[in-house]
Amino acid sequence: MPRKAWGLTVLLLITLLVFAGLLALSWLRIRPATVPGEVVAGKRVWQKYGCVECHTILGNGGYVGPDLTHVAGSRQEKDLRRFLTTPARMRPHARRRHPPVKPTEVEALMAYFYFLDRLQVKGWPPRTVLETEISAPDPDQGTREGDQE
Ligand code: HEC
Repeated sequence: MPRKAWGLTVLLLITLLVFAGLLALSWLRIRPATVPGEVVAGKRVWQKYGCVECHTILGNGGYVGPDLTHVAGSRQEKDLRRFLTTPARMRPHARRRHPPVKPTEVEALMAYFYFLDRLQVKGWPPRTVLETEISAPDPDQGTREGDQE
């Protein structure tokens, strides 16, 4: 083989190696995070009891009860467990009870809640702003466009 061809072959090999290296690096960076099995089981319990009917997680769900995205971080673990196993009466009328969740299912739900609490959600859900807190513009002040003749 002539010297020039050798040189080109070596250059090609080096280029391929660099390409493979960069490919591996980007694959490592985009590899999706794996969700632990217990967390998936907790999500299934959440779906089985229809908790979403009344509670939101990351903004998805009903508004009867509070958002539970960060419930694991805002409540004591033992209190949360007790709440889930002994069906609490629901405010305000206290006639309906929470669905009683089985102890094994509570374990899974807790794993799910702890997983959610660790997600980086940049302050979600936003604090609820009551209508009375929003200062409406004074209708007597200023003129709207087109009011002048
Ligand atoms: C029919 C509506 C409804 C359903 C279904 C429901 N909840 Fe609730 N939940 C509520 C209401 C309302 C509250 C607030 C109760 C209170 O303050 O007394 C609440 C409170 C909670 C709390 C306490 C939150 C806190 O920070 O104090 C947890 C935890 C909770 N629910 C979990 C669940 C789970 C898990 C399920 C499904 C197994 C579920 N809920 C199903 C209506 C519901």
